[in-house]
Amino acid sequence: MSPSRSLLSVCSLALSFLTAASPSSAQLVSTGLSVTFNDVYYFISPYSAGRLEDPSTSVSLTKVPSVFGFKPVTVVQDAVARSDLSALFANWTAIDDVFQPAFSQAVFLAGVSCISKRATADGVSSLVLPLNNTGIPSGPYFLETATGSLYPVYRLYEDFAGSFTESLLQKPGGDFEILSAQIPGSASLTVGVPSRLYYTKTAAKPLAGIRIGVKDIYQLAGTKGSNGNRAWYNLYPVNNETGTAIQRLVDAGAQIVGLQKPSQFANGETATADWCINSLEVDYHSPFNPRGDGYQDPSSSSSGAGTSIASYDWLDIAIGSDTGGSIRGPAGSQGIFGNRPSHDLVSLDHVMPLSTALDTAGFLVRDPLIWDVANSVLYEEKYTSLATVKPNYPKTVYTLGFPTSAGNSAANAMLLNFLNALTQFVGGTATPLNLANEWATSNAGGPTLTQLLNITYATLISKEQVALVREPFYRDYAAVHDGRLPFVDPAPIARWAFGDSLPASALDQAIQNKTLFMDWFNAKFLVPVSDPTQCSSGLMLYVANTGSGNSLRNRYISAPTPPFGFSSGRISVLAEVPDHVLPIGQVASKSSVTNHDEYFPVAVDIMAAKGCDGLLVKLAQDLVNAGIIAIPEVGATITGGDILMKRRAEAMGIEHVRYVG
Ligand SMILES: *[C@@H]1O[C@H](CO)[C@@H](O)[C@H](O)[C@H]1NC(C)=O
Ligand SMILES: *[C@@H]1O[C@H](CO)[C@@H](O)[C@H](O)[C@H]1NC(C)=O
Ligand SMILES: *[C@@H]1O[C@H](CO)[C@@H](O)[C@H](O)[C@H]1NC(C)=O
Ligand SMILES: *[C@@H]1O[C@H](CO)[C@@H](O)[C@H](O)[C@H]1NC(C)=O
Ligand SMILES: *[C@@H]1O[C@H](CO)[C@@H](O)[C@H](O)[C@H]1NC(C)=O
Repeated sequence: MSPSRSLLSVCSLALSFLTAASPSSAQLVSTGLSVTFNDVYYFISPYSAGRLEDPSTSVSLTKVPSVFGFKPVTVVQDAVARSDLSALFANWTAIDDVFQPAFSQAVFLAGVSCISKRATADGVSSLVLPLNNTGIPSGPYFLETATGSLYPVYRLYEDFAGSFTESLLQKPGGDFEILSAQIPGSASLTVGVPSRLYYTKTAAKPLAGIRIGVKDIYQLAGTKGSNGNRAWYNLYPVNNETGTAIQRLVDAGAQIVGLQKPSQFANGETATADWCINSLEVDYHSPFNPRGDGYQDPSSSSSGAGTSIASYDWLDIAIGSDTGGSIRGPAGSQGIFGNRPSHDLVSLDHVMPLSTALDTAGFLVRDPLIWDVANSVLYEEKYTSLATVKPNYPKTVYTLGFPTSAGNSAANAMLLNFLNALTQFVGGTATPLNLANEWATSNAGGPTLTQLLNITYATLISKEQVALVREPFYRDYAAVHDGRLPFVDPAPIARWAFGDSLPASALDQAIQNKTLFMDWFNAKFLVPVSDPTQCSSGLMLYVANTGSGNSLRNRYISAPTPPFGFSSGRISVLAEVPDHVLPIGQVASKSSVTNHDEYFPVAVDIMAAKGCDGLLVKLAQDLVNAGIIAIPEVGATITGGDILMKRRAEAMGIEHVRYVG
């Protein structure tokens, strides 16, 4: 056998092998590309925004840098004169965290017919080129020079608060895929946000470009959900549908950027023994509350929602859920706005239930203007925005458990000042209320309020979640794992066990008790009134947070028990009325972590009659406009400032610790 013949046979073998591999069935799919540009981390979407009609113009971009054939460029659809480009880019830089002047080395400008050169922003020399495709929104892009296709740009951020369970890329069709990007960060995900310049608010798209995080109990098409449980995440396939609530946000133009951590199965968990003793975490690590010393319990169950809105200025809204306080708790602990809405304002299809009788979907936000728009989108005709109306605010302001004097407590002084300012603002008076006494007067000889309601909430959530979540989960898990049980955190286990201990009739009894309370309360205190600008006969306040700084996440606490008892926080849960958290300030207290004074939020809850959600949001807006409360900032305090953990040694000229071997 001659050597050449031998070589030939090997080659033909290789060829037939390659043919057999049938390249036509192989799918090579781009999941996008990560780059840095002037030290900023970006993601290039795999979904083209359109093509330049005359790709040959891109040939002139030889001086523009390129990665894998992608070049940073800018599209300008506005009819601006070339001489106004630098002013335009300065405006863009101010409103958008994705655009930077370096994208303007090549500018495709509508209405020009020839290529020209000019200096624009920040000393960047721009090549200005004709743009013929009117379908591509203005903003920064990466141009694929080989095809003339333009790809949207996302800026990448570190989820240092640990707020997210998954980082998502919203596809042009409105379903989702995982964002395939990772930037430096310690055990944290990378979240991507698209340029704000791509989106224009319209009547049909009032949330255009608004960036939203979604509690990981809402099912989104194209993603797997966890409900805060790893066994659940791994057991079930990718969701093929997005539920009504999130679809409404997407249809209104919102950009969903990720799924956010709930405590497990949306049951209340405290960030300590049952969720995250130091390194000994149970299933998922609790997110970090950025306020004060940075080691306070973020509250639950919309924990990722609350921590993200208090930590990230690149995120506008988080959607959570509130069954027994899961939005109000995190809103108060993080010092941001949050609403438990009136019950049943939006269908909760494709959302994990805790109790269908009590579950609600609501928002955590910094800006009460966006809050109103988001509510209008989510609740549609069941929400009446009063944004453009002067309300006739109710003059009866009930308080529950408010301090009677400031004493030497700065938080009490703040609460009383707020109450005073609020009653003056609405032209009313404050009426302290003791609900247990009121009930006893109305129901002489009957059960006390505590007897009636002590186990009502615990019964509703445990009986319903056992039937709707645990039973199918355990059945499916056992089928896949030879009869085994999945791991479940201590808090849901304790609650479900309580449900198991009750007879089936307990659920009906709980609904009866709830209805008894609701009918009494809603007829006596927060009564709907016919004047839509008043809506409610009264307002009712209680204290959400007193800025104590005493809920450190490294405490050892006792084992979780079912949520027995009655408190002010249960009123809206059982009476179905809206209950909104307003951050009113912050107070200093000495942190045992930092050995330094730190600031912790003070917040109140305000309730109104069922259906008066718009009134409470308008009140928040008006109180901000009147200077009585302020829009909270992200950071260590509600007026801003570095989150302590994010301060850098280099900023002080301090170098790395050198280990000497
Ligand atoms: C930049 O913004 C200012 C203030 O909104 C506006 O007056 C001006 O026209 C803008 N310039 C351009 C070129 O868009
Ligand atoms: C693009 O527009 C310019 C000027 O508006 C025009 O001269 C040019 O022919 C157009 N190119 C194509 C491919 O339509
Ligand atoms: C999603 O899957 C379910 C169950 O397999 C099926 O009934 C439903 O029609 C699917 N929905 C869509 C939009 O494909
Ligand atoms: C509430 O119910 C639990 C469970 O039955 C019981 O242990 C507790 O003592 C009750 N509390 C009150 C105040 O009745
Ligand atoms: C309902 O109320 C009665 C008192 O009238 C109380 O004994 C019972 O425990 C309550 N049950 C539930 C499930 O709330």
